[in-house]
Parts: sequence; C-alpha cells; structure tokens
Amino acid sequence: MGRLTPILLASVVLTTTWGAVRAQPDPAQQLRVEAAIRAAATANHAKLDYTAFVNPFIGTDNYGDVCPGASIPFGMAKFTVDMTGYAPAGYVADASQFIHGVSPLHDSGTGSSLGTYGNFEVMPMYCPGGFDTCTTNTVERQRLRKPNTDDASPGYFALTLDNGIKIEATPTRRAGLERFTFPDSGKPYFAIDLAADLPGSFAGGTLDFDRNKGRLQLSGSFGSSFGPSSFNYHAHACYDLTNRGKQKISEYGVWTGDSHGMTAKGLGLNHLNFTRNLIGGVYQSGLLVSFEPTQDNQYTFRVGVSFVDANQACHNAESEVGNASFQDIWDRAKALWQEKLSKIEIDVANTPLNITEMFYTSLYRASLTPNNATDETQGVFKDTDAYYFDSLYCSWDTFRTFYPLMSLHSPQDFAQIVDNYIDGWRKYGWMPECRANNLPGWTQGGSSGDNIVGHFAMYYHNEADDLGIDLRELYSAMWADGELNPPEWNIMGRQINVYKQYGYVPYAVLDTSSTGRQTREGSRTLEYAFEDFAIRQVAQLLGKHDDAKKFTNRSLSYRNVWNPDIESDGFKGFMQKRYSNGTFAYNDPTDCSPKDTNDTRSCSLQGDNLNGFYESSSWEYSWFAPHDTAHLIQLMGGPDTFIRRLDHFFDEGYYLAGNEPSFQTPIGYHYANRPTKSVDRVRDVVFSNFDITPGGLPGNDDQAAMASLLTFHLLGLYPVPSSSQLLVLSPFMPKYTIHNSFLKTSTTVTVKNFDPKSIQPVIPPGTAAYVQKVTINGKPSKSRCHFDFYDTFRVGGEIEITLTADKQSADSCGGNLPDSLSTGGFSRAR
Ligand SMILES: *[C@@H]1O[C@H](CO)[C@@H](O)[C@H](O)[C@H]1NC(C)=O
Ligand SMILES: *[C@@H]1O[C@H](CO)[C@@H](O)[C@H](O)[C@H]1NC(C)=O
Ligand SMILES: *[C@@H]1O[C@H](CO)[C@@H](O)[C@H](O)[C@H]1NC(C)=O
Ligand SMILES: *[C@@H]1O[C@H](CO)[C@@H](O)[C@H](O)[C@H]1NC(C)=O
Ligand SMILES: *[C@@H]1O[C@H](CO)[C@@H](O)[C@H](O)[C@H]1NC(C)=O
Ligand SMILES: *[C@@H]1O[C@H](CO)[C@@H](O)[C@H](O)[C@H]1NC(C)=O
Ligand SMILES: *[C@@H]1O[C@H](CO)[C@@H](O)[C@H](O)[C@H]1NC(C)=O
Repeated sequence: MGRLTPILLASVVLTTTWGAVRAQPDPAQQLRVEAAIRAAATANHAKLDYTAFVNPFIGTDNYGDVCPGASIPFGMAKFTVDMTGYAPAGYVADASQFIHGVSPLHDSGTGSSLGTYGNFEVMPMYCPGGFDTCTTNTVERQRLRKPNTDDASPGYFALTLDNGIKIEATPTRRAGLERFTFPDSGKPYFAIDLAADLPGSFAGGTLDFDRNKGRLQLSGSFGSSFGPSSFNYHAHACYDLTNRGKQKISEYGVWTGDSHGMTAKGLGLNHLNFTRNLIGGVYQSGLLVSFEPTQDNQYTFRVGVSFVDANQACHNAESEVGNASFQDIWDRAKALWQEKLSKIEIDVANTPLNITEMFYTSLYRASLTPNNATDETQGVFKDTDAYYFDSLYCSWDTFRTFYPLMSLHSPQDFAQIVDNYIDGWRKYGWMPECRANNLPGWTQGGSSGDNIVGHFAMYYHNEADDLGIDLRELYSAMWADGELNPPEWNIMGRQINVYKQYGYVPYAVLDTSSTGRQTREGSRTLEYAFEDFAIRQVAQLLGKHDDAKKFTNRSLSYRNVWNPDIESDGFKGFMQKRYSNGTFAYNDPTDCSPKDTNDTRSCSLQGDNLNGFYESSSWEYSWFAPHDTAHLIQLMGGPDTFIRRLDHFFDEGYYLAGNEPSFQTPIGYHYANRPTKSVDRVRDVVFSNFDITPGGLPGNDDQAAMASLLTFHLLGLYPVPSSSQLLVLSPFMPKYTIHNSFLKTSTTVTVKNFDPKSIQPVIPPGTAAYVQKVTINGKPSKSRCHFDFYDTFRVGGEIEITLTADKQSADSCGGNLPDSLSTGGFSRAR
C-alpha cells in the first residue's frame, strides 16, 4: 500500500483543514530525545540507551499513519488512543481531532484504508450527574486533548484529555496496563466499548462482566481493513478492573446507543450478546463502570487480548503481566527494545543529531511490525504449529527494504516470518501477499512473498536448518505461487495462467480460469517478472537446473510490456499495458504521476484504474527491473540517455519518494557507472522527504517500508532483493557496527574522510562525500559500487569506505557494475 487513493485523499483534506492547532506532541518529548543524544555524544558509557533516541511521533502526521502506541518489538498489542478523522493507526498528531478512547490493538503505517483495529476502547470520564448521565456513545464521549501533553517512548504512551484526565499505557506481547490519573477526587467513570473499531465494522459480539472478580470479557467479530468486506475476524479482550483488589467498584451496567441520539443504560446488567446491525450502522454498546475514589485518584486496568477466545485473553494478561507494576512492564518493554536497537550501533558522538534520531526511530519501526500473533490463530491457521504474524501489510511494500534490513542483523526473527509465509502456502496453497486483521488482503503486485522468502534463502541457506526452515518446502511454496493459478487472485497472488500463456499480463484478456480485477497489467507484469527472478534464484541455489532456466526466461518478461515506440518529454520507450493480440494500449506515461493534474483519475485498486500501473505512472514503473537493469539501459538507448532520463525523472518531479516502486530509482546511476550521481540523489531524497517531525515521512510508512528505506540510505547501502548483493553509497555517519548474534559476527563500517558538512541536501563542492575506495577486511573491493553479504556482514570484521571530494575521480565503479542477468550477473548463489 502506498499512496492514498484520490477518493480518500479528498475526504481527508476535508476533515483536517478546519483545525490548524498543531500543538501535539509535547515539545518536551522532542527536547528530551535531543538531550539524550547530546548527553550520549559526550558521555563515555560503554553501552548507550538507544531507546532514548527514538521519537515514536515521527510519521504521525502528513498521512504517515505511524502508530506511536506502546508496543514491544513485533507486539500484537499496541496501545494508543483512537481519534476522529483519517486516523488508520488510531492516533494522529493533528490536535483538532477528538479522542474516543484508548485501546490495545493497532497497526502501524498502513495506508489507503480507514485503518485497522481500535477495538475495545476505554474512555475515562466524570459524570457529575451520576450513572445515567454518562456520555457513553462514541460521539458524545469524545474529547480534545490538553495541548502539549502527548508523550511516547519505546514501551510507553501517554496523553491527557482536555478535562485533565491522563491516560497512560505500557505493553507486553498480548497484554498490558492502562493507567488513568484523574485531576481531582470526583468519582471516576469508564465507558468500555464492545462495538467500536476504527473502520466501524462490528459484526456482532458479546460482553460479560463478573462483578466479584472485577473481570470484563469482550468478544467481537469485525471487518477487514484492506480486504474483502465479506470476511470477518474475531478479537477478544479481558479487562481486570480492580488492580488486584485496590480499586473498589461502585456501580456498573451496560449501555447501548447509536449515532442518531439513542443512548440507554442498564444499571446492574452484566451481559450483552448482539448480532450485526443490518441497517443503520453499528449498534453501539459496552460496559459503564465507576469506582470508589482512590487516595491518589489513579486507576489501573490490566488488559489481555487474544484472537482465540476471551479466556485466552485473560490468560495472556495473567501470564504476561501477572502482578507486575506499571513501571516493571515498562522496564521490560524497554529492555526488549534496547536489545533490538543495539543490533546497529552508530558513532553517536560524530553523527549529526537529527540523523541519529531518524536512524534509531527508523530502526525502532523496523521492529514494530508485523504483529507477532503466534499462538493466537484463527480461521485456516487455527492451532497451527508455525509462527504466526498478523498484518503482512503488504508484501509488495516490505520485500524491497524491510526484510532485507532484518536479514542483516536478525535472521531468527526473519526465519519466523518466513515460516509464517510458508505456512500461508501450507494452509491456502499460496503464500500471503497481504494479510490484514488475520484475513487475506488485496493483492498489489502479485506474490511478492516470493521475493521475501527468496531473500531469506539467498542469505541463510547454510543456516536454514538451524533456523527451522526447510528449503525444499520454501521452494515448493514459491513454485506454487509461480505455477498454480489461484481461483481468485485478488487475494491469492497472481493471474498466472494468462501470464504464462502470453508472457505478460494482457489487458482485457479472456481468462476462464480465475477471477480478479483486471487492471494494473503493466505493473503486474513487472512485479511478476521480479517474483520469477526470486524463484529462479532459489531454483539455481538448489540445483534445479530446468526450473532455473525456465524462471530465468520468465523473469525477463518485463521486456514484453516495453513499448519502444511511445515518447514522453522527448524520451522514447516506456512500459505499457498490452492486449493479448500484442498491440499496446496507449496511456500517457505521465498519467498517475505527481504531475498528473487530473484528480478524477483512478490510480490504485479501483476498477476504473485504466492506467495499467498500480499507484504509479509509467514514467515511474518503467525503471523497475532490478535484476536486469543493464538491459533496461539498452532499451532506453544506452547509458548516456539513461542518465539524462533519470535526471529528467527527478528534476521534472515524476519521482515519488513515498512510493515503493521508486525505492531503488535514485541509485539507478550505479548501473550506468555514475555512482556519484546516486550519492547526490540520495542526499536530496533524504533531506527533501524525511525529518524528525510528526510530518517527517513522505507518505504512509507502509509497515516500516519507509523506515527501512531511510535506514539503508543513512547506512550508505541498498539491498538488491532476492540476491546477496548490496549497493554501496556514502553513509550519513562516520562509523557503524552491525551485530548479528545468530552468526556471531560484528561488522564495523568505518568511513574515512567523513565530513559532517556533506550531510545536507546538496553536498558543497570540495566536500569529501564520494566513494573512492572500499576495503573489506584489509582487501580492496573489486568494485566501489557494490559488495556481497557473503564477503561482508556474513563474515564480520572491518569495512573501510574512503570518501573523496574529487567527484570526477570517484565517478565510476572502478570495477564491475552491479549485477544484471543479461550481462551474466547472478550466475551463482553464494
Ligand atoms: C449469542 O446469541 C446467539 C443467538 O443470537 C447464540 O447463538 C449464541 O450462543 C449467544 N452467545 C452467547 C455467548 O451468549
Ligand atoms: C499475584 O498476587 C496475588 C495476591 O497478592 C497472589 O495470590 C498471586 O499468586 C500473585 N500472582 C503471581 C503470578 O505472582
Ligand atoms: C533538525 O530537525 C529540525 C526539525 O525539522 C530542524 O528544524 C533543524 O534545522 C534540523 N537540524 C539540522 C542540523 O538539520
Ligand atoms: C513471537 O512470539 C513467539 C511466542 O511468544 C516467540 O517465541 C517468538 O520469538 C516471537 N517472535 C518475534 C519475532 O518476536
Ligand atoms: C523464453 O522462452 C520462449 C519460448 O520458450 C522464447 O520464445 C523466448 O524468446 C524466451 N525469452 C527470452 C527472453 O529468452
Ligand atoms: C488488438 O486488439 C485491440 C483491442 O481489441 C484492437 O484495438 C487492435 O486493433 C488489435 N490489433 C490487431 C493487430 O488486431
Ligand atoms: C481525467 O481522467 C478520467 C479517467 O481517466 C478521464 O475520463 C477524463 O477525461 C480525464 N480528464 C481530463 C481533463 O483529461
């Protein structure tokens, strides 16, 4: 998922323009992060507290859709508040939006949808007129924030409502504590919601309150956020309301309501069982409970969540939180984050402040999702033995940088996720492309999971057994994606039969073997071809020569949608959709680009997206053949034209930093032997699109696709997915070490002649910033444009990147260009 659809964008603008107050989050939060970085730069602690460098609010404005909620790494629970307006992650920085509760389930970085989860909210309130006067309905109970109060750090979230009630939360994997501090000693009331969720999709559920135990169990069915609306998932929560007997319940009862004024309460009732409301939207309902005021006006709820049942939700709270205090849980969460964040240690003292903050915040989000719902399975995954992750949202977003980043330092985490992908094939017959709310989500590029498990195989085939992955099975899953036509490829991957028959996905084709929305033929062909490359890579690795040949050939299918005859801005040849009779169907290559002024044109999953590309223009997607750029250069008329065309693409504004197909494009110059231009371009991309503010992302984080792209840019690396090749650029820091505890290696990259003056949008002439020489464990690298995982991070040791100010002398690879199939690249698996 990338850009918002124009339709959504229009409604978004309407809801956000009327509030110009931008006083969130608390400015002290940013100052605290900055102070921690400054202190670390001057202290000589052996071990730094990396969690202090993380700013969870980056990406919570400007449609970044980041969840700043309290979570452990890959937590299934992410505690934050749910707000009005366009807020797919629950929280948004926009201070004009109202809050209707704090809740335990969220996703981070999802785009183009109304959001996911936000179920089982708690809203604290005063009701001076007593039980019956409480404002329980979502619209009645919603409130603004007190300015400058939002706070968050790894494992902690806090916000204060405009009536002074403070909400805090801290998590475990499937549970956590919510703490409410009231400003005075009035009687506290809480509306706990059974039916609300972010997209308003409640399809029935139950509520049961055990007054003696102070235990509330909630179960509901809800709709998918990015998949067929006919599917439902089931979620459950268990609230223990008495804080181990320290809080005395005063009154309790149920409430119901709708959004048209109906609001009713039943004092003393403790059970609800509702079906879906078939007309008129969600029938709202929940529990209303009050307490005898405590000495400190503070109330703590323990909450567990589950996708199995409400009893398991209670068990999760008991086993994961138990009797631990708020501070204990927070400390534990922080320690888990410290462990993840220390996988990459940078030279904080000599790195610009903002770079350190962007770096560790990105690294944080790169371990925030997907959500580890192991042992919390339902549907076809019920009781599976495999690891299980929810919110693979979507593989098209994450195969390019997210999993390649994980593969550098955390093979165990990666292996669990690969196991989960393979398990998708075991249960459905195809690997998941997108999974949202435990349900199959919409296909974007085809079966990008192939590039994810393929990347794992390229990096860890020697260790696969120890990591619990059977490579033969992994290959079977890829093969199924590449060979077997699913009945419905909207949710199961590829329209494979017609692709095989024609060598491309034809436009307006007769397909009698499967159903799906026949749009995006150009981009689907390009993505299918790169998915075939992943299959080819693993076939080659496993010595399956016939398959390797077949899939090598198929990976070149990108050529079949290349129309050499169309012209745009003086450049000839573009990718274009094509009829089954071979004739191309014309679309202007600038359609759906940022320069396209036609705001009624559909560019996403809509049925009337006639452009041939997904969330992109042909200008943008025509660069996409990461496994064979050398041939693309030929198609485009040779290196000089290719360079001119790249320059034009950026200068003219066709590039879209926040869109996944564009991720590798700034580094395209490497393939034309002009690596200094890639360095210049990446500086510009980073500074024009990313910063440390809530608006500091160029669009949806897309489950940290953006965060991991930024991480690679700052490290001066870029991964070629489904291969062990890494492109080399100019790091934004003088030194870093990547630890891989599974391989027991540490690799330190030292940047000689690093000049902090070069860390700006345009590198000033005469500043050392261009890669002159790369030395790996004392030996000069054969090329300064790329190296291989197996020669570097796989073995550990020292990498030295020497920079020069003499741009001209550095403006070639000084050896081999990065690999392309057509020039004999990728000829063996390492
Ligand atoms: C809820 O009601 C339905 C019928 O509407 C019934 O089938 C179901 O067993 C009830 N569930 C509970 C937990 O009471
Ligand atoms: C929690 O505290 C209660 C009462 O103080 C005690 O009975 C129980 O065993 C404790 N549970 C754990 C997991 O320590
Ligand atoms: C750091 O980021 C802040 C917020 O965007 C900006 O105001 C400041 O200029 C940046 N500092 C540097 C040195 O770039
Ligand atoms: C996911 O949860 C399971 C069960 O607690 C655990 O064994 C596994 O290590 C977790 N994986 C990650 C990546 O957090
Ligand atoms: C792939 O194979 C087909 C026939 O098997 C052949 O016609 C085609 O030229 C091959 N494509 C490439 C790019 O080699
Ligand atoms: C191919 O089909 C399209 C759409 O039906 C048609 O416009 C075009 O003329 C056909 N080309 C040939 C060569 O028949
Ligand atoms: C805008 O795009 C739509 C859909 O492609 C098209 O029907 C319409 O003619 C376009 N408008 C203009 C002014 O080009």
